[in-house]
Amino acid sequence: MRSKRTDKEAALAAKRHAAQAAIGQIRHDCRLGVGTGSTANEFIALLPEVRDRITAVASSSQATTALLSELGFEVLPLGQCGTLDLYVDGADETDNHRRLIKGGGGALTGEKILVASSRRFVCIVDESKRVKLLGKFPLPVEVIPMARSAVARKLAAMGGQPQYREGVVTDYGNDILDVRNLSILDPVEMETEINQIPGVVTVGLFARRRPELVIVGTAQGAYSL
Ligand code: A5P
Repeated sequence: MRSKRTDKEAALAAKRHAAQAAIGQIRHDCRLGVGTGSTANEFIALLPEVRDRITAVASSSQATTALLSELGFEVLPLGQCGTLDLYVDGADETDNHRRLIKGGGGALTGEKILVASSRRFVCIVDESKRVKLLGKFPLPVEVIPMARSAVARKLAAMGGQPQYREGVVTDYGNDILDVRNLSILDPVEMETEINQIPGVVTVGLFARRRPELVIVGTAQGAYSL
């Protein structure tokens, strides 16, 4: 049996390999959107290697901006950058069609805005994030606080079990519902349906706009989906 320490080291190595491969996607004069989470953090740690090539925009005003600033990057507001050349971020799940669940870290709305503002979206994951069918990871839905119960009832009517993420307030002052047991057979349709519920800010399904590339890190290296 492998020790816990070895498993942890292998998981970290996988994230690093994916992050390193994503660094290779950065061309000169790159307006770069930077995501949130432990895999994105490995990517951020490598960004000093390409400091002279990038202008950075962050998906989360809290976590990502703080890390980039610590490394001496000026973080520009999206409005000053216009269309981004590249957005790099992790995910909580990816299927074989590169459709994702994101938002485990609570930054899904900023992430979706940056994805929509980017010419190219590269997602970095380790193999534990690969699934045949999306939905084992509870689906995050950001909601306006006054609509939380109303949205939860609609999600329950769709067959899900929504749970309020207690103690979490998003970058935009909203709440998050984590929805278990949804049968996500058609992620594009479900993304559209949930986004249309009044009071929903955004759902953590990234299926209508998928990443152009998913880089899967392993303990030994990385491969692409
Ligand atoms: C943040 O809100 C999320 O979308 C992250 O991208 C996602 O949770 C992946 O995070 P890890 O890389 O920490 O697993």
